[in-house]
Amino acid sequence: MNGNINDPAKSIATFHAGQSIFLTGATGFLGKVYIEKILRSCPDVREIFLLLRSKNGQSVNERLDKILSLPLYDKLREEQPSNFKKLIPISGDVSKENLDLSAVDRQTLAERVTIVIHSAASVRFNDSLKYAIFTNTRSTRDICILAQSMKNLIVLVYVSTAYAHINNPVIKEKVYPPVADWRKMIKAAESLDEHILNIFTAKCLDNFPNTYIFSKNLAEGVITEYSSSLPCAIVRPSIVTPSLSDPFPGWIDNLNGLTGLLIGGGKGVLRVFQTNKHVCPNVMPVDIVIKSVIDAAWKIGLTTFTPGSPPFVLNCTSSNQRNMSLEAVSKMGFQIIKDEIPLEGALWTPGTIFTNSFAVHYILTILLHILPAMLIDLILKLTRHQPILVRLQRKVYVANRAVGHFVSHQWTFEDKNSLDLMSLVPPEDREIFSCDATDVDIKDYYRKSIIGTKMYLLHEDMNRLDAARAHRKRVDLFVTTLKTVIVIGVLWMIYKWICT
Ligand SMILES: NC(=O)c1ccc[n+]([C@@H]2O[C@H](COP(=O)([O-])OP(=O)(O)OC[C@H]3O[C@@H](n4cnc5c(N)ncnc54)[C@H](OP(=O)(O)O)[C@@H]3O)[C@@H](O)[C@H]2O)c1
Repeated sequence: MNGNINDPAKSIATFHAGQSIFLTGATGFLGKVYIEKILRSCPDVREIFLLLRSKNGQSVNERLDKILSLPLYDKLREEQPSNFKKLIPISGDVSKENLDLSAVDRQTLAERVTIVIHSAASVRFNDSLKYAIFTNTRSTRDICILAQSMKNLIVLVYVSTAYAHINNPVIKEKVYPPVADWRKMIKAAESLDEHILNIFTAKCLDNFPNTYIFSKNLAEGVITEYSSSLPCAIVRPSIVTPSLSDPFPGWIDNLNGLTGLLIGGGKGVLRVFQTNKHVCPNVMPVDIVIKSVIDAAWKIGLTTFTPGSPPFVLNCTSSNQRNMSLEAVSKMGFQIIKDEIPLEGALWTPGTIFTNSFAVHYILTILLHILPAMLIDLILKLTRHQPILVRLQRKVYVANRAVGHFVSHQWTFEDKNSLDLMSLVPPEDREIFSCDATDVDIKDYYRKSIIGTKMYLLHEDMNRLDAARAHRKRVDLFVTTLKTVIVIGVLWMIYKWICT
């Protein structure tokens, strides 16, 4: 029993008791895990306002109901079913000015909210500059303006990205001067038409690989400026991967990052990938990221605010010594898929060829991605099925180009603030709120991540492993036969050529 149960400094749940939280990005990967964790581990929270937009013909209430039916919430449903009532959807759109909030909702938020978590963002790397600035930079300004009107605000946490300052080889836990004046950039996005802005884009992206990173960099500038009048924290996650343990291992809802690589290669769809295979990707499980967000809110919420102070910055990144190279991670992942957890409907033996060369990648993409995809699509068409592979391979190519910069470069992330924060977490809270992931058994983590991806993302049944294995054996036989025929064919042609 926690003897410090009534002291917010000694219990993170107690600190959250009675707090009213305003969360943006609630339908996203991080947002969903945040909601689950707070409602289950801080059961006395007063309420969580969720900024949601209607999308694909679904109203905000329908979207919330859909999210809450996910397996992610099974444990919460079992342990704290009444806590779902604390979720209050608020209609808004962060790409619109003033977040598209109604006057009534703004008033409610101003009266009641004590903690703001701004996680919404457009994470697409190929957004137009206008849309990225509206959704990621201007929204952050408008969140800060809204936060200034909140009567009882104790902390605003901005979820940034560890890559917001990748123009530096070593990324410290401090604010950096923004690469451009965010006010001027917002004004330009508002006043110039899309066509003219697109001409400026190349100039804006001098030091940045895409509009997402550029707009997140500017957003940190916004937070830095407003932190002189608001208690702010910036949490910078690296590549967010499936959950480590909370509420269970392996939760994932997207194919971004390493998961996409392992599943694409495991299914035989991603046969070639342009990267530096020696680069060590920096990854963080989603539950650890969310615990960092909660712990940062707790730390700043307990600190007396001094006007003019800079925001508290946390690099939510894994220790650089423990990172494995892309080659090692994928080798281990594909071995798990081969030996233990086969994926259903694989088209080829698990594995991906890594190359640094644009030309080799291009040629192999045509040979190993496009031509087989055209052939299979033709068969699908002839058998009156929907052709999908050429379209899929186009997306794979675009995705590889988009992540190219991140998988070909290496950065060092300082993490002193993270380590200090870990040591501040009260001993009784360590099991529930510690963001320490240093003792992880990496192979076990990837095994559980692959199982999670298979179950929650691909919706494959773990009871059908034998059938998947049998399919894999047939694919292996086909691949071996095809390779043998090709080798014999090539040798035969060489022989004929020499003999004539
Ligand atoms: N995932 C990662 O690997 C990673 C790494 C570093 C940093 N981050 C940061 O973490 C935060 C959350 O990322 P995530 O992985 O959860 O992304 P995500 O799964 O793509 O979710 C993005 C969230 O933002 C919301 N959003 C986007 N545009 C919106 C709009 N116009 N109006 C209202 N809401 C909007 C989305 O709502 P809809 O469902 O309505 O689209 C969704 O809830 C982001 O700030 C991101 O930059 C993520």
